[in-house]
Amino acid sequence: MNKLIIAIDGLASTGKSTQAKRLAKTLNYIYVDSGAMYRAVTLFGLKQQPEGRLDLGVLTQSLDQIKIHFEGGAEAQQTFLNGENVTSALRDPKINEYVSEVAALEAVRSFLGEQQKRMGTDKGVVMDGRDIGTVIFPQADCKFFLTASAEVRAQRRHQEQLEAGHEESFEEVFANVVARDQQDSSRTVAPLEKAHDAVEIDVSEMTLDEVFDLLYVTVLKKLKS
Ligand code: DC
Repeated sequence: MNKLIIAIDGLASTGKSTQAKRLAKTLNYIYVDSGAMYRAVTLFGLKQQPEGRLDLGVLTQSLDQIKIHFEGGAEAQQTFLNGENVTSALRDPKINEYVSEVAALEAVRSFLGEQQKRMGTDKGVVMDGRDIGTVIFPQADCKFFLTASAEVRAQRRHQEQLEAGHEESFEEVFANVVARDQQDSSRTVAPLEKAHDAVEIDVSEMTLDEVFDLLYVTVLKKLKS
């Protein structure tokens, strides 16, 4: 059976990764969390400077020192930064605070974009992010764009943060979600936008299973076409 490239883009905390992982597992495809790559570069930048400051100029000059790889397959994917498993560190609120600034840097986008494009060479990949269907794989076979209200997304992220042991108030999380939408949509390089040929799904009132079924049916149709 022919293999597809599946791009899942959309707003923060709409469950893109959850859906992308399940789709990759079901189809036996590679799963790539492109947001984790931006987070890993941000973590590298924060580690470079004393007291967790971030010097974007220094970071831009040091991109060749950054090696990111994934292990564990779609289900239990772990992200490694220069050989160290940083999966849980990437969810730290400090990363959320700085990642949009890092993701707005052209040098960072082309550094990570090259790697992401290479991961699609053999097809059979599900990649989630913000610019996968527009910039990384404009030729993707299936493109989805997930949205939800800011309240629903902040509730989800707040719950995730609590489960990960990060104490933040709902108000802080909500403010961060809104600020990141604004930054991600208004940046000049690869802004968050729906590809003209992407299927848009508002997940605010849908269960995870309902969203998955919609994605999967669309993919099956494509496979049979
Ligand atoms: O999906 P996420 O929350 O882990 O993404 C982290 C940040 O990286 C978010 O602010 C948007 C940015 N990002 C991006 O600009 N392009 C991508 N392809 C993926 C993520």
